[in-house]
Amino acid sequence: MRRTLPTLLILASMVAIGLVLTPVLAADEPVPLDTCAMCHDEVAAAFVAGPHGRAMAKVSKDILQRSCETCHGPAGKHVDDPSTTNINRHPSSSVCASCHADRAGGMELTTPGHPRNDVQCLDCHSPGHKDPGTEHMLRLPPRQLCGSCHQQEAAAFQLPYAHREGAHKPFACTTCHDVHGEGERGRLELLGNGGLCISCHTGKAGPFVFPHPPREVDGCVTCHDPHGSVNPRQLKRHEVADLCLECHADVSVNHNLSQARVRACQNCHAAIHGSNRDPRLLSE
Ligand code: HEC
Ligand code: HEC
Ligand code: HEC
Ligand code: HEC
Ligand code: HEC
Ligand code: HEC
Ligand code: HEC
Ligand code: HEC
Ligand code: HEC
Ligand code: HEC
Repeated sequence: MRRTLPTLLILASMVAIGLVLTPVLAADEPVPLDTCAMCHDEVAAAFVAGPHGRAMAKVSKDILQRSCETCHGPAGKHVDDPSTTNINRHPSSSVCASCHADRAGGMELTTPGHPRNDVQCLDCHSPGHKDPGTEHMLRLPPRQLCGSCHQQEAAAFQLPYAHREGAHKPFACTTCHDVHGEGERGRLELLGNGGLCISCHTGKAGPFVFPHPPREVDGCVTCHDPHGSVNPRQLKRHEVADLCLECHADVSVNHNLSQARVRACQNCHAAIHGSNRDPRLLSE
């Protein structure tokens, strides 16, 4: 039997006056938004007017109509006998994924730690009942959102040397991290060969006749902390020599390491990122 407006008006008024309802509907019959709106008029109107409702309506009115039930689960029983116990208040990520398969799948590529640690879509996004006032319905602006779980990385941006200045400020976590694995900011580019870094630091791009191998092997983060550091140039060690000697412990005896002048390796090996003229990286 199809739900009709009069049936629902009757249902609603029966609920209002506290009558026990007899089931009048097949439990598996789809319940569209308009039916939910009979009883949840304000909630439904706010959803339709909100960011999710508007985004859905642009794609198709039909998706919008079935969205309430997709998120909250089969609602036939709930409509017949409304209560908080026969409806799912908080949908899991697999429910979102039933409409957003691409976004869910991409997460394995860039930040597999999220799905593996059961970080849910709704940990980062609002469902759309209220407009959180951010882009992409994020619960908080990106820096605060990410920082709410990643305190250490967020705090690093407050250190004396961090990604704060220049044309790209303010740097959001999402400037570098794409949590959905779309576009160009995939995990390998991020962690591997410096592709992400050289998209801005083009001068460090090479290709060099004499590249400094660590860059090719482990990327910029071998020597730099991408988030921030107490050391100038966001280096991982306070003294440059300590950084270099981790790999070059066997540096020739011509280097008298007791001298401060010699320990400032970058003063002579100025082409630390690679050289086109000198295999010893002494000049660009
Ligand atoms: C016949 C009226 C009626 C219809 C139709 C109806 N509901 Fe409800 N719904 C209620 C009542 C009554 C409650 C219980 C409110 C309470 O006890 O606080 C409720 C509770 C809920 C809750 C739980 C809220 C909470 O606090 O946990 C959700 C979610 C919900 N409804 C979603 C829906 C959706 C989605 C639809 C359409 C698919 C729908 N409802 C259709 C009357 C209705
Ligand atoms: C994207 C998933 C999603 C969709 C679509 C959705 N909801 Fe919800 N709804 C939620 C979540 C999650 C909550 C819990 C409250 C919160 O986090 O905002 C909720 C809360 C509710 C509540 C309880 C409200 C309250 O103030 O406590 C009702 C009633 C409800 N939804 C009805 C609906 C109706 C009707 C529709 C269709 C117009 C709908 N929902 C569409 C996810 C969704
Ligand atoms: C019934 C299908 C459906 C369900 C279920 C659904 N969505 Fe959506 N959602 C859409 C459509 C359609 C759009 C608009 C097209 C797009 O951006 O993919 C959209 C858009 C969005 C947007 C972008 C909104 C904007 O402001 O641009 C976000 C974020 C989002 N959904 C998150 C979620 C989350 C989180 C859940 C689960 C709690 C969810 N969706 C469940 C269909 C759905
Ligand atoms: C609800 C908590 C939570 C939120 C919010 C969150 N993360 Fe995570 N994130 C985790 C967990 C848990 C892991 C896996 C364990 C770890 O590395 O701490 C993780 C891992 C990561 C990793 C490491 C790569 C990986 O997959 O292991 C990156 C990068 C990351 N998150 C970036 C972000 C960004 C960017 C944001 C904001 C858009 C964000 N996270 C928001 C919980 C969260
Ligand atoms: C760790 C936080 C986090 C989690 C978990 C997360 N998202 Fe997102 N989502 C974001 C951020 C941040 C963006 C903005 C895109 C960007 O800047 O990379 C976004 C963008 C989106 C968009 C595109 C909005 C647009 O207009 O282009 C959709 C749709 C979306 N997310 C859906 C989902 C779904 C579905 C899930 C669960 C499978 C999910 N998200 C889980 C943080 C998250
Ligand atoms: C300038 C680009 C950039 C920005 C901006 C950035 N990150 Fe990262 N992040 C990276 C790189 C590169 C790595 C890989 C580091 C490595 O492998 O040593 C990384 C690694 C991570 C990890 C994994 C750490 C681990 O030990 O496995 C997390 C979590 C993370 N970032 C969170 C964040 C958060 C939260 C923000 C915003 C407060 C942020 N990032 C901003 C580039 C960035
Ligand atoms: C979105 C563009 C962008 C990305 C991506 C980016 N940077 Fe930067 N970086 C900048 C800007 C802008 C500055 C500030 C330059 C200034 O202060 O003049 C900067 C500063 C730095 C500095 C300090 C420079 C100094 O003179 O003290 C280092 C080191 C650095 N970045 C390394 C990296 C590394 C490593 C990565 C990859 C993990 C990276 N950057 C990714 C734009 C970017
Ligand atoms: C072997 C260690 C090492 C690697 C790998 C490395 N750097 Fe550096 N980088 C340094 C040192 C040391 C300095 C400081 C030079 C100085 O103080 O004159 C520096 C300085 C910088 C600066 C600021 C000064 C300048 O020359 O503009 C930027 C920006 C920078 N590096 C970016 C990068 C990027 C991007 C990558 C990856 C493509 C990278 N670095 C890889 C060691 C390294
Ligand atoms: C992660 C390890 C690593 C770090 C850190 C590192 N290097 Fe290297 N460097 C290498 C490797 C590997 C080579 C390739 C030649 C070799 O096998 O010695 C190389 C080559 C060089 C060369 C050319 C050597 C030659 O035989 O022609 C110079 C000069 C050099 N590095 C200086 C430095 C300086 C200065 C620093 C600190 C700013 C530094 N390196 C940091 C691994 C490292
Ligand atoms: C005063 C200038 C100067 C300083 C400072 C300096 N070097 Fe050198 N380095 C040279 C010259 C010149 C050569 C080539 C001749 C040679 O092999 O002694 C060289 C060669 C090298 C080589 C390749 C040959 C070898 O000795 O293994 C490495 C590696 C190297 N330096 C690492 C370092 C490191 C690490 C530091 C900092 C602790 C450093 N250098 C500081 C001038 C300098």
